[in-house]
Amino acid sequence: MANTGPIVILTGAGISRESGLHTFRDSDGIWAQHRIEDVATPEAFARNPRAVHTFYNTRRRQLVTGNIRPNAAHEALARLERAWPEPVLLVTQNIDDLHEKAGSRALIHMHGELRKARCAHCGHVQVEDGDLGVEQPCPVCTRTGGMRPHVVWFGEMPLGMDEIAEAIDRCTLFVSIGTSGNVYPAAGFVQEARYRARAHTVELNLEPSAGESLFAEKIYGPATQVVPAFVERLLTQRL
Ligand code: APR
Repeated sequence: MANTGPIVILTGAGISRESGLHTFRDSDGIWAQHRIEDVATPEAFARNPRAVHTFYNTRRRQLVTGNIRPNAAHEALARLERAWPEPVLLVTQNIDDLHEKAGSRALIHMHGELRKARCAHCGHVQVEDGDLGVEQPCPVCTRTGGMRPHVVWFGEMPLGMDEIAEAIDRCTLFVSIGTSGNVYPAAGFVQEARYRARAHTVELNLEPSAGESLFAEKIYGPATQVVPAFVERLLTQRL
């Protein structure tokens, strides 16, 4: 059946793996090296801000100076957004900047952005390519101790949820790419798309995710292979 309606695409760490960034839950992933409760919760930041800063400063440096570039999967999604006749909203759980570097414009970073800092005291958000530290004052409210990575930690509300819900309600195609389907609310989007919007649902991943049975169609393989092929199929055959 031809499909030319609005599209929502959810991406996770798997799409950036072939650009050189580690995923979270694979055997060589970030959560095999660090405990979530030590580095990715508001309680961790309150208890030991230096450890949290070190964790994110290391990852930010890798992104800024580590020659990390978008791969063929990021580029294919940017191409799809430019060529598709209806809106294509890209919702990423990733805090890297590879989608925007590839040219995607309609993009929501629902878990925040590594290359931004936010003041916990006044809410000021700024571009940040350097290291963050506890002594750093906020340039707006001048208080120290509040400058934190502009990322969503476990227990915090993801960003852009209203806009995401509206787009899922309208979409006729929902595609999930490179995510293990373990973290909510993102892991629940497929159900909203399938049962509320009656959209076609597709999973593109290296292996079946936790939510595999919820997808009508599944294609397994490395993102740099399966994503460009899927985009090509969409643009030529409309589904
Ligand atoms: N191509 C496609 N998929 C891949 C590739 C690849 N080259 N390499 C790994 N994958 C798949 C894995 O099989 C796995 O299913 O990507 C998925 C990555 O899953 P996770 O590591 O759990 O990452 P993600 O789903 O993005 O995590 C969600 O959890 O820790 C939090 O905030 C963090 O945004 C993150 C969220």
